[in-house]
Amino acid sequence: MMFYISCPSGLVFEIKKRDGLARIGILELPHGKVETPALMPVINPKIELIPPRDMEGMGAQMFITNSYIIMGSAELRERAVEEGIHRVLGTYRPVMTDSGAFQGHIYGKVRTDNMEVLGFQRDLGVDIATILDMFSEPYFTEKEARHSVEETYRRGKEACKNLPDIYLAGPVQGGVYEELRTESAMLMSSLPFAIHPIGGVVPLMENYRYGDLVKVIISSKKGLDPSRPVHLFGAGHPMLFPLAALLGCDLFDSSSYAKYAYDNRLMFPWGTEKLENMEYLPCTCPVCSKYTAKELRKMPEKKRHRLIALHNLYVSFAELRRIKEAIRKGNLWEMVEQRARTRPELLDALRTILKYGDYLERFEPRTRRSTFLYSGWESLERPGIKRAARDAERIATETPRKVLPEAERPYSRTYADLLKEKKSFAVNSPFGLVPMELDSTYPFGQSIFPEIPDKEVVENIEERERGALQDIPEEDIDRDIEQVRAIAKFQFGDEGATLLLKGEISVIKSKKTGKIRNVFVDGEHVLSLRAEDGFYTLKIAGGRRLLEAKYPRYRIVVSDGDEFIREGKNVFAKFVEDVDENLRPMDECIVVNKKDELLAVGQVILNREEALYFSKGVAVKVREGAKKA
Ligand code: GUN
Ligand code: ZN
Repeated sequence: MMFYISCPSGLVFEIKKRDGLARIGILELPHGKVETPALMPVINPKIELIPPRDMEGMGAQMFITNSYIIMGSAELRERAVEEGIHRVLGTYRPVMTDSGAFQGHIYGKVRTDNMEVLGFQRDLGVDIATILDMFSEPYFTEKEARHSVEETYRRGKEACKNLPDIYLAGPVQGGVYEELRTESAMLMSSLPFAIHPIGGVVPLMENYRYGDLVKVIISSKKGLDPSRPVHLFGAGHPMLFPLAALLGCDLFDSSSYAKYAYDNRLMFPWGTEKLENMEYLPCTCPVCSKYTAKELRKMPEKKRHRLIALHNLYVSFAELRRIKEAIRKGNLWEMVEQRARTRPELLDALRTILKYGDYLERFEPRTRRSTFLYSGWESLERPGIKRAARDAERIATETPRKVLPEAERPYSRTYADLLKEKKSFAVNSPFGLVPMELDSTYPFGQSIFPEIPDKEVVENIEERERGALQDIPEEDIDRDIEQVRAIAKFQFGDEGATLLLKGEISVIKSKKTGKIRNVFVDGEHVLSLRAEDGFYTLKIAGGRRLLEAKYPRYRIVVSDGDEFIREGKNVFAKFVEDVDENLRPMDECIVVNKKDELLAVGQVILNREEALYFSKGVAVKVREGAKKA
């Protein structure tokens, strides 16, 4: 899967894989491509701790340095303007520069202005220049925070107007005021910025206020153009990378690797350790493999600092590779839950994330490639899982069912004997009441729980059990048809299920597994069932049936390209006019033109807000085109 996003700024950001808001993307900059999520090590132009070339060998693809510091040093300034930033730093990879806003935060003021520091960054030949934003402190009153938002926006407008030819970073400010953050994000997104850093968060990170950090990231993301890369300003601790990536942050920058090293502190995915308190080094990086803690302590200071900085970077890049692998496999939530167990503040961050389920749910696919692994009650609160549980319970409670206790999966095997009774069944599972027919459908059929359940899970099961375990009379039912219907309701909702299955239903089963493969209605092949996750793929005959739903339900509406789409070519975001807001990434959909004629059936890659914002790349992977009647 590949699609391109081209910002009004001209920046190309290509998404290769996604998992909810998290994404693996390719950022194309003048000095080369960068795969995100990426960490930009901060280079201090005054002190070389580790040469950029060495960092490139460890996984650094892009760097960040501070133009304000360079500008303030007569010697550096002249060299940098003469030779360009890349020669001065000793790298030919992309370089982003910061503006001095952070120095404003530390020293209270800066000796430059927006256009001066931007002009200087342009003269250095940087890949991305940052405007002089106004840092909103977390202790700011709402009025003060609003002032920093408005002033940052004013400077953003000034920058975009006067420097239309370079890539600019437009930071989001607004302190800890969520509505103000969203407003700032919307204002900055309305300008042709290449990337959006989320600013003013360093004090939150320094004070382990991770719950507040989550609020700030989510409220900023809500207002940002979803097609632009997001940078979490000053986030350099690997402990924060998984949750920030889960919330849709694409870039990180770190001076922490060096700052912590000067302080003899080692970073790990689970936190920070002081060298003086360590006897064993629980790490496989080249530094920790070669030296003991004692040897590091006895070393000359300069060498020790360099080695600890190297360790800090190795650990950080390894964590980013784990995150990318998790995005690829669709199990980043699991990784965040595991990491949350390493520090109470991270657990607070996770629990705060779960409060924003309504927003996050819109980006959550209904099915994933990875098995659902339970790691605590928070796993059941993941927005995509909660939605699935709610939908299943609705189906389980709309008609009388005999409720069975939780058992080994697949339930249909464990309860094979009982299923001879002509009754509908549901299982009182840790997810909630699950109809027997959804036994092989994600997440119910692809899930693992501990045999010894948590108290919260037991309590929920017991509560549902009260009054639910009564028997029901036998009736005439066809289990295959029941299953066909339940999965259709689960995946397409009641309206879709009714339209898709109106008529006489018949099925074809796999000879090998005995499972349903294809669903026919009045002799037409309407749906196929995927064995891996128990979800349907839509056939053209099914698409025709969904076309009966009220506009724009189930639809991606395109303005152009009818002929190509009818031939089975993918739908590009550029042509998308309208999208059903109920569609989620990876859902089955129908593609129609403006006259509401069916062009194809396929799988959406983007949800509504993404498909409308992205101006290039694939919005729908078409499965089958509709030949002209
Ligand atoms: N570095 C860390 N935080 C910030 C911020 O809010 N703005 C800028 N420009 N740089 C930062
Ligand atoms: Zn190490």
